[in-house]
Amino acid sequence: MWGGRFKDGPDAIMEEINVSIDVDRHLYAQDITASKAHAAMLATQGIITASDAKNIAKGLDTILSEIGKGAFTFKRALEDIHMNVESRLSELIGPAAGRLHTARSRNDQVATDFRLYVRDTIDELDAAFGAFQYALASRALEHADTVMPGFTHLQTAQPVTFGHHLLAYVEMAARDRGRFADARKRLNESPLGSAALAGTSFPIDRQATARALQFDRPMANSLDAVSDRDFVLETLAAAAIAAVHLSRFAEEIVIWTSPLVGLVKLSDKFTSGSSIMPQKRNPDAAELVRAKTGRVIGALNALLIVMKGLPLAYQKDMQEDKEGAMQAFAALSLAVRAMTGMVRDLAPDAARMKLAAGEGYATATDLADWLVRTLKMPFREAHHVTGRIVGLAAKQGVALHELPLAAMQEVEPRITRAVMDVLSVDASVKSRTSFGGTAPKNVRAQAKAWLKRLEKEPKSGR
Ligand code: ARG
Repeated sequence: MWGGRFKDGPDAIMEEINVSIDVDRHLYAQDITASKAHAAMLATQGIITASDAKNIAKGLDTILSEIGKGAFTFKRALEDIHMNVESRLSELIGPAAGRLHTARSRNDQVATDFRLYVRDTIDELDAAFGAFQYALASRALEHADTVMPGFTHLQTAQPVTFGHHLLAYVEMAARDRGRFADARKRLNESPLGSAALAGTSFPIDRQATARALQFDRPMANSLDAVSDRDFVLETLAAAAIAAVHLSRFAEEIVIWTSPLVGLVKLSDKFTSGSSIMPQKRNPDAAELVRAKTGRVIGALNALLIVMKGLPLAYQKDMQEDKEGAMQAFAALSLAVRAMTGMVRDLAPDAARMKLAAGEGYATATDLADWLVRTLKMPFREAHHVTGRIVGLAAKQGVALHELPLAAMQEVEPRITRAVMDVLSVDASVKSRTSFGGTAPKNVRAQAKAWLKRLEKEPKSGR
C-alpha cells in the first residue's frame, strides 16, 4: 500500500511487532461503514465518479458479508484491517478501489472506526447494566421486608432490609450508566476527513460523513482528531468504576455464601464443586467477577501510560489502545451479565438473616433513640446509658430484648416496658422511614419506581 519508496519487505520481527490485524479485525464492521460513508461523500462532492462510488460500496458490502461468514482471509502482511479491506476491494473491483483512500489517511480512519466501536460497546454495556438494575430492583421488591444485618467495619451495625441493600447497587449502576452516557456524548464527534493530521486540499464535506455515521458533528481540529484517545480513556475510566462496583458486590456474595456467614445460597447454576471435597459449593462466578476488575483497571492504567508521553499528532504507540480496551470491555460485559444471573439466582436465608440481624446488639441505636425521644435525654447521654445496658446484656449473655426490664431500670429507672417495642429488628427497620432509609415501605416504593423507570427503556438485554 505504501511500497513506492521501499525496495525490501519488512524483517520478520518488524512484521511481528507492527502487525495489528489480530486485534483490529474486530473493527471490520465499523471500518466498512465508515468507508462507505466516505466514498458516498467523495462522489457527492465530485471527487470520485458516481460509478466508482457505486462499485466501491458494492465491493465493501461483499467484504462485509465475507468477513461475517468467516470466508475472508486476513493477511498479516497487510498489517491491519484497513489495508486488508482495501486490498480485497481491489481484487473485487479493480483500480477504482484505489480511489477510496482519497482525502483520507489511516490515522483518521482508525480514529473513526474505534470511536464507532466504543460507541457500540457503550450501547451494549448500557443495556446490560439496565438488565442488571432490573434484576436487582425485582429482587429488592420481593425482599422489601426481609431483615438482614447491616455492617460497618464488617461488624454488625444496624438491621437493614435485604431489598434496601440490593437497591444500593441499583443506584451505583445508575451512576455507572450516567458516566457511560457522558463519555458517549463527548466521543460522538467525527475525526473522518482530518486525513493524516493537517486536513486535506480536496473539497470534502465532513458534515456529511459525520451525519452519515450518526456523529453529532465533525471534530474541529484535525491534529486533535487524529491524536485524541480521550474517548477510550474516559470509557475505560467509567468501565473501571463500574467494575469496582461489581467487584464489591461480588465480594459480598462471597462473604454471604460462606458457611461461616450463611446469609445467602447460590444454586448449582452459579457455583462449582471441588474435585476433592464433596461438600463444597464454591462461588466461582462471583470470585471471577471480583478478579476481572483487575483487567479493566489495568487497561485504563496501561493506556494512560501509553498516552502520557506522546507529542501530537498520531504516533504508532496509539495502536496499543485497542487490545487492552477490547479485553476490558469484554470482561466488564461478562462480569455484569454474570452478576445479573447471580442476582436472579441468589436465595437469601431469611430466618438466618433475621437472627444475624439481632446479633451483636444491632438495635442498640434504637434503644438510645428511644431514650432521646421518650425521656428527652441528650443523645450523648443516651449513648452512654445504652452502652451500660449493652454491657449488662453481654455480661448475662443475652440479647437486648431478652434483658429483664428490671436490669435496664438499674441503669436508668425511667425506662418502661414500652421500650421493648423498639428492640426487635422488625421494629427497627420499620422505624427507618427517613428519605433514603431502610424501612420496608421506602424500599417497596423505591423498587417500584425503579422497575417502572426501567420498563420504559428498550428491552434489550433484559
Ligand atoms: N493500525 C494502526 C493503528 O491502530 C492504524 C493507523 C496506522 N497509521 C499509520 N500512520 N501507520 O493505530
